[in-house]
Formats: sequence, structure tokens, C-alpha cells
Amino acid sequence: MNEVTVSAPGKLMLLGEHAVVYNRPCLVTAVDQRMRATIELLENSQEFQLEAPDVNVTNYKKPLSDLGVGDIPKGAQFVEVAVRNMTEKYPLSSGLKITTASEFSSLFGFGSSSASTVCVIKALSILLGINLSKKEIFDMSYKTVLDIQKKGSGFDVAAAVFGGTLYFVTGGRAIEPLPVFSLPLIVGYSGVKADTVTLINKVKESFAGREIILDEIYNGIKNLVEEAKIAVLKSDWQKLGDLMNQNQRYLRDDLGVSIPKLDDMINASLLAGAYGAKLSGAGGGDCMIAIAPKETQELVKAGIIQAGGEVIHVKNNAEGVRVE
Ligand code: MEV
Repeated sequence: MNEVTVSAPGKLMLLGEHAVVYNRPCLVTAVDQRMRATIELLENSQEFQLEAPDVNVTNYKKPLSDLGVGDIPKGAQFVEVAVRNMTEKYPLSSGLKITTASEFSSLFGFGSSSASTVCVIKALSILLGINLSKKEIFDMSYKTVLDIQKKGSGFDVAAAVFGGTLYFVTGGRAIEPLPVFSLPLIVGYSGVKADTVTLINKVKESFAGREIILDEIYNGIKNLVEEAKIAVLKSDWQKLGDLMNQNQRYLRDDLGVSIPKLDDMINASLLAGAYGAKLSGAGGGDCMIAIAPKETQELVKAGIIQAGGEVIHVKNNAEGVRVE
């Protein structure tokens, strides 16, 4: 085989963001908008080539020996460092061309960088004939993300690899698939782009000298996640909604990572009859989620639109990385 296409899902954080960076759990669900990567081996070449038009990378080439060195365009970083990390461990005897395509905008915060990293590791393992377990794909992909971002819990990588709905602890210390069918979730995009690392740093800086208080906040969030795990297992959406509302209060009032636009979309969802609503991810923009009974779902969507948001139609609990 000298060509393979794989795809991996995007993700939505359900509960536990920020706390999960610091040894606490979170809940995450994979969404059915996917990132795709095709890798083709180039016989008689020692070149790395990348076409990633969604992130403005076209006709990008360099010798395999220079992977990870020099100025790397932002849109090429994760793929290039993933190839470097894989080929350092499992040497490659030919060049390769990678083409990526995304079904979702990289602006949503669905985890396009992590999903493309996972696609590259999985596709290369197939082309090299190496049988990697899901956990090994996770570990190699998470290392790649940390090499570039330095920070992050890896929950997005886990969602891309394992799919479904997961109870996850920092760095993959626990990755527990929750046997659920799907959640009655509505997703609203704020139209504001957020940067995860900037927000992680912002929270840290705003609690400088008050780390004990921050620790207590994270313990409070941890307790909500533990309760939410049980609610998900019981499909108790009303309870889950209540826990999401409590989580949002921590994010907005204590950590200060919500923004008025997200607050408006969240309030509109609750007024329209959602059980609960919160931002999803680092905050500062990106998406919010609401959980609502069937009867009020359309009203909640209308509320989000009226508050200036865009409803993103995605199914959750989607399948993890797979060969296409
Ligand atoms: C960002 O989507 C969620 C954070 O918890 C960061 C992470 O877990 O890597 C803020």
C-alpha cells in the first residue's frame, strides 16, 4: 500500500475545561464533522510535501531531514511535527505527500489541529505497517501537541482517537468511554475566535498569588464532572443541564473566561427552555452548548440565533479515527 486516507472527528468539551489542564477530569464528546488526511508515499524522493488549503498551506515542501526545523507556517506545524515524531521512532525510506481537508472551520474550536495530528499518526502507522493501539496513537499525538503548544490536557486528542463520549483525566491518565447513544445537545458558534493557550495563561496570571483559591475552584469543577459522568450514564439530561449551569458559573464568575456574546447565547438558551447551557472549550469565544428536551430544541436554536450566534448542526458521540 502506498496511499491511505483516514479521518478523525472534532470534539466538544461538555464539562471540566481549564480544570482538566491541572490533573482533574473532564467530559468530552466527539462530533461528526471530521478532519481528513491522505498520505501518499513518494518513491525515489526524500521530500515532505503538504497541501492543507483549509489553513492556507499550499505547495509546502521540504527535505525529510529538515522536519521540524526552521520557520514552519502555523497551518503546517502539527502535521509536520507529527511526521517528525513518527519517523524519528519508525524510520521512513521514501518521501511523502500529505493532503488535509476539514469538514469544519478551524475557527469553531472543534480541535482541527489535534484531529489532523491524529490522522497523520494513524495514516503513517498504516503505511509503515505498524500496529499501534489507540493509546499509542494518543500518546504519540499528545506528545506532538505538547511539542508545539507546550500546554493542554490532551482531551481533544483523546476524542479524535477514541471518539464517542469520554471521561478523561489530564494527559490520558484515564480515558473512559461512556456507553451512551447521543446527547440532546445544541451547539452555537459565537463568531469570535479564541486562542486556548492565551486563555490558559490568562487564568493562571489572574490567580497569581491566589493559587489556593484557584485550586479550590478546580476541585469544585472536578466534583461537577464526577456527578455529570453519572448523569450521562443514566441519560439524566435535566441533571446534566443543572451541572452545566453550575460549571458555567465557575467559568464566568470565578475564572472570568466567558464573554458577553457567549453569555447572551447561554441566557437565550435557558430562557427558551434548555435544561442547561455553558461555553465549551477555553472560553473567550468559540462555541457554547445547550442541553434541551426535544420540545424546546427549536426554540433554543432560535434563541441562540436571536442572540447573534450561529447554530452548528453536528451529531455528537461520533466515531473516532478511522480509515476511509
Ligand atoms: C480548551 O478547549 C480546553 C482547555 O481545558 C485546554 C485543554 O484542556 O487542553 C482550556
